[in-house]
Amino acid sequence: FNKHGIFVERTLALIKPDAINTADEIETILLNHGFAILQKRRVTLTAEQCSDFYSEHYGKKFFPSLVAFMTSAPIVAMVLTKENAIQQWRELIGPTNSIVAKETYPDSIRALFGTNEQKNAVHGSDSAVSAEREIRFFFPNCIVEPIPIGQPAKDY
Ligand code: PPS
Repeated sequence: FNKHGIFVERTLALIKPDAINTADEIETILLNHGFAILQKRRVTLTAEQCSDFYSEHYGKKFFPSLVAFMTSAPIVAMVLTKENAIQQWRELIGPTNSIVAKETYPDSIRALFGTNEQKNAVHGSDSAVSAEREIRFFFPNCIVEPIPIGQPAKDY
């Protein structure tokens, strides 16, 4: 909820190591699509942090390679907000595999800045539950709980 008591959804976006040098361009695109950046930090994940973040993929064949890639350079983590932010961000980034994205959704961020299913430039939360967990992971102090209407503005 914003200060007017209107609910605005949040999602977690990551700019991955392969796109770190084009972070400014990606930010310009998302701002032009009506997203606002509520929080932003640049961080280099340790293997332990990265394994924790991607724990749902633990045991999959690509897991070691995913962790090696995601810890190879800094990433940018952002909390984005917009109406229907989770779905809207997933649409703007396009399919997971950048090769598929280039064929099917050439204007998407993964088509423009990614290379394949690993080097795919960006991440987006896939559900409200994931968004809450992922926002807390990078921004432990960020408010993600709905705030009841009528709370004084100073609380947020
Ligand atoms: S799954 O198995 O369907 O849940 O996987 P998927 O949603 O397609 O991808 C999950 C994340 O893993 C990355 N990925 C890979 N990394 C390395 N190698 C291979 N082969 C590979 N396949 C998928 C993919 O980029 C996804 O990362 P996020 O950050 O979620 O976009």
